[in-house]
Amino acid sequence: MTKPLSTEQLVIPSSVDHIEKVDEFVERFATALGFDRDALADIGICVTELVMNAIVHAHKEKSDLPVQVDVEQHDSGLRVTVRDHGPGFDTETVPDPTSPENLLDDHGRGILIVRAMMDDVQCTRLDDGMQIAFFKRFVPK
Ligand SMILES: Nc1ncnc2c1ncn2[C@@H]1O[C@H](COP(=O)(O)OP(=O)(O)OP(=O)(O)O)[C@@H](O)[C@H]1O
Ligand SMILES: [Mg+2]
Repeated sequence: MTKPLSTEQLVIPSSVDHIEKVDEFVERFATALGFDRDALADIGICVTELVMNAIVHAHKEKSDLPVQVDVEQHDSGLRVTVRDHGPGFDTETVPDPTSPENLLDDHGRGILIVRAMMDDVQCTRLDDGMQIAFFKRFVPK
């Protein structure tokens, strides 16, 4: 990926009380890039899913652990990265929510939703956590 045209960062403690702040932060940045209401709603859903995962699964709501959200403006769209300091996980071995034995579960769909709604999703396991990034392309008018 080429160098971004502009970037911003928000760091929050691991508490669901801060989810709204993240949503507002990303929405403001994405609105300035010209995304329409539907795209803004989709981006908001995906950011919330990833930040919830960081807070709940990675940090087990230990509020002193920071969740870092980076937004980047690119020529062709928006990139959002959510970074945590948990144990990380292997995206290949996460149970498949579309397989018959999991279809009735009421959880396990967050990552699938992000993959379905966004144009590119990259999951990177780091030494001290997980970094999940998605890209949302501009749609030509
Ligand atoms: N940041 C993370 N750190 C560690 N494990 C994670 C992280 N994100 C996801 N996981 C693991 O991957 C699984 C799948 O995540 P996913 O968001 O798809 O579903 P979920 O969080 O279990 O349920 P929901 O449908 O409510 O999002 C989680 O149950 C968890 O085991
Ligand atoms: Mg989830």
